[in-house]
Parts: sequence; C-alpha cells; structure tokens
Amino acid sequence: MVSPVTMRAVRTMGAVPNSEFLLEVEGVRKAFPGVVALDGVSFRLKRGSVHALMGENGAGKSTLMKIIAGVYTPDTGSFKLRGNEIELNSPLDALENGIAMIHQELNLMPFMTVAENIWIRREPKNVFGFVDHGALRKKTAELFARLNIRIDPEINVGDLSVANRQMVEIAKAVSYESDVLIMDEPTSALTEREVEHLFQIIRALKAEGKGIVYITHKMNELFEIADEVSVFRDGRYIGTHQAGDVTRDDIIHMMVGREITQMFPKEEVPIGDVVLSVRTLTLKGVFHDISFDVRAGEILGIAGLVGSGRSNVAEALFGVTSATSGEIAINGKTVDIRTPAIAMRNGMAFLTEDRKDTGCFLVLDILENMQMAVLRDKYVKRGFVSEVEVARECERMRQALRIKTPDLNERIENLSGGNQQKVLIGRWLLTRPRILILDEPTRGIDVGAKAEIHRLISQLASDGVAVIMISSEMPEVLGMSDRIMVMHEGHVTGFLDRAEASQVKIMELAAQ
Ligand SMILES: Nc1ncnc2c1ncn2[C@@H]1O[C@H](COP(=O)(O)OP(=O)(O)OP(=O)(O)O)[C@@H](O)[C@H]1O
Ligand SMILES: [Mg+2]
Repeated sequence: MVSPVTMRAVRTMGAVPNSEFLLEVEGVRKAFPGVVALDGVSFRLKRGSVHALMGENGAGKSTLMKIIAGVYTPDTGSFKLRGNEIELNSPLDALENGIAMIHQELNLMPFMTVAENIWIRREPKNVFGFVDHGALRKKTAELFARLNIRIDPEINVGDLSVANRQMVEIAKAVSYESDVLIMDEPTSALTEREVEHLFQIIRALKAEGKGIVYITHKMNELFEIADEVSVFRDGRYIGTHQAGDVTRDDIIHMMVGREITQMFPKEEVPIGDVVLSVRTLTLKGVFHDISFDVRAGEILGIAGLVGSGRSNVAEALFGVTSATSGEIAINGKTVDIRTPAIAMRNGMAFLTEDRKDTGCFLVLDILENMQMAVLRDKYVKRGFVSEVEVARECERMRQALRIKTPDLNERIENLSGGNQQKVLIGRWLLTRPRILILDEPTRGIDVGAKAEIHRLISQLASDGVAVIMISSEMPEVLGMSDRIMVMHEGHVTGFLDRAEASQVKIMELAAQ
C-alpha cells in the first residue's frame, strides 16, 4: 500500500524518465447530482499507441476524458503524466501539459474564420500588438498542408459542413503539438473517405510517439485503428485488451453484459399507398430535379456522401428552407410547405443531423426539450394541452428509449451525447407523425440502444408511417431500408431495391 506521505515523496523526487506510460489514472470517482458518472476507474495510455474507449451511452467515457483534459476535477483519484504525479486545474493547464481534447460536441465559433478558430488566444501578433493576419494565414496553411486538409482558412466556420468543422477541430488539437490527444467520437459526422483521411493523420501522430485516446461506438473503427481497447460499463472499469485479441462479440459482451444478435431488425410489412410524393424538387445550386415517392409502411433510405445534398432535401421537405421549384404532395394533395409549422401540421416530423445547432436547446431541461414539438403541434390543433398527460408520455418515452438520467428535469446539456440524441428521437416520436424524416438517427448511439431505435423505427413503419432515413452507415441503410435512393452532388443517381442493394452498388452510385 502506498500512503499519502510516500506519494508526496514521489512527487517531490521529480521526473521519472521514460515511463512506459504517457498517462496513468487510478481510482477516479466523479459524481454529479443524482449520478455517479465514474466509480473507481483506472486507465493507462502508452506512448505511440491508439487506445480505444468503448461503453454504452452514459458509461462515463466523456467524463473520464474531460477529467484528463482538465475540464472536471475528480472527487478522488490519482493522476500521473509521463511518470509524474500531477494535478490539472483547467483545460488550459492540460493543454500546457501536452493534453488536447477534441470534444464530442463541436466547440468552434461560427462567426469566426477557420484560422481564427484554430489559433484563438494564441494569434500571432505584429509589433503593434495586433493580430498579424498574414502570419495567421501562413501558419494555418502550413498546418493544413501537413495534415493534407483542403479547407479555406479564411472562410467562416459557420459556413462549413459538419464534416469540415470536425476536420478543423482535429487540426486545432494537433496544432497544440500535444503528446496526448483525446478524440471523443471524431468520426460521427465523417464519411468513409474522410474517416480514412483521419486515420492517416492518426497513424502519423502515432509514429511520432504520441498517445491517442479514441472514443467510438463503431466496431469496425476499433479494429482498424486501435492497438488497445478499454471498456466501461455504468461508470465502472471493465477491462483492457489488445485490439487483436478480442472479437466484436467479446467487446459487446463487456459493454452490455449480454449478447446482441439482431442488429437491424427491419420487419417485413405490407407497403401501403403513396403518402409523400416529391416531383422535380429543386433548390438552385444545391439540389436538382429530385423526384420520389414514399409509401405508408415503407422505409426509404437516402445514401450518398456528405455534401451530396441529402440533408438539404430533407430541410426543404420540412420547410426549413424553400425549394426554388418543384412540387410536394401529401396523400395526393399538393402542399406548400413554407415553414416547419406547416410541415408539422401535415403530419411530418424531422430529426436533424446537427444536434447542437438545430436540435437541442441546451439550457432547457429534458422534459422541455422532449415535449416541445408536441406542445406546439397540439396547441395549433386544439388550442390547449394537458401538460400532465404530455409529461406522462415523456416518461414512457424515457423508459422505452432507456434514457440515462436521474429525472426529466435535468438540463439536457448534462446528458451524455448519445442520451441527448435519444431525447430528440423521443421528441419526434411523441408527435405521432405520418411522415418521419430522420437524418443520421443513430449517430453517437451505442450498439444496444441502436438496436432498440431500429426496432422502434421498424415498428413505426409497420404502423403505417412513411419513413425517410438518411444515413452514412452502410449496414444501417442496407439493413433498414425497403428502398434506397442514392444522391451525388445534388442529383439522384439511382434507386436500389432492398433485394438488389449492396455496399458496392451504393458506392458506385454515390461516388460516380
Ligand atoms: N455536467 C454533468 N452534470 C450532470 N450529469 C452529468 C454531467 N456530465 C455527465 N453527466 C452524467 O454522467 C454520466 C456519464 O456521462 P458521459 O458523458 O461520460 O457518458 P459517455 O460514456 O460519454 O456516453 P455517450 O456514449 O452517450 O457519449 C451520464 O449519466 C451523464 O448524464
Ligand atoms: Mg460521450
């Protein structure tokens, strides 16, 4: 046993050179009101290695990493960096000690340029003490060249796609030249090609001897990029293995303590009449001549690369933006959907892909976030609403989706990423839509909850809802869709029936 006195002695002895581990944490506990997020957790990160962290939504992965990155202070626990005991008091403190974190929810300033975002509070200054914009541009260009990133440093971050924002975050973290890099679900908004790009960057950083913590819900990524994997469950540390020594099923078993076999259980249901009919829908410069039908009980998958216009079409259908020409009909009647309120009155629901920008109201609590669409909808219809009844339905939804929270009056901001996503899914399911549009519905959702959400979507379809599902995850598109519409650069390049669809065929149509 090590007494506190000897621990202090180690600390004053100074550096222990060439410790095998960059980072060692032990016995970390962290409680929030009503939740023990971490309970006696240990974690060690080697030099020149990629260490994956896996666990269900709410298992404590982000919390542990935020402790390591100086965002939270643990209630108990010891922390060694390069063999030396250390205490971090702020994210800046962590950065100065060589620890950088890319957060699960992106943190860039939309009204600042890419370059300004990356060098914020570290801008090169000229002799008068003002920001030296020439030097700023040059530094950014050099950083991007090193990482092989092609984004204009002068553009406002608000004008970038989610994927490009993600790349900027990654570049920013690398720019600190830290030797511990924490990536919290970095690929949730990236397509396969961009993921490959990120993996090249990670391999290069690894070769430089850096340690990378990689949080993900995607098994294939684990086996492609990780050297080691640690699994957490309910705030507890379950174990660490070499990635080569374990199978997908071993990991799932460690994560959830049970087997999950049925991943994409789309039921065969009779397909009904056309509910939504879209003809030559066009938004100049964004998408062109989009025509398709969706029937009751049908799940239409939309595949394509990020930037192919999939989300833009969904936004136009829901009245977030207005198409320049074309026609939308619901149950055979032409409708002019100029606003989301009109879309909702016509029985539509839309889960957006960007949880932070357009989905969650972070300052509101879970209940308020969940009942928002219903209250509005019912208000429009009937002019009154029973809040008690709505609250009861929200509680039912919480149980069905297994949202991990002590109660519904918790601020949504305090939920884990995957659990925030579940609240938003709940919000739209509560409206009992006839047309449900889902943009990347299971982003950031763990394997177990994913199966549950797929089951819910499938059940809605069998109740006669027409579902449109945009997804970048091939197994999800292939497993859930009755039909797949593929888009490329704002055009529909083809339709595939469930029986004939394959990953190769989708990629051929998506990449052209
Ligand atoms: N600031 C906070 N206030 C209150 N509770 C919190 C806070 N941050 C996290 N929690 C709770 O701690 C638990 C662990 O959350 P954490 O974000 O670490 O999970 P995670 O493993 O990263 O999950 P996910 O895969 O969904 O991102 C959850 O129950 C969460 O609601
Ligand atoms: Mg998380």
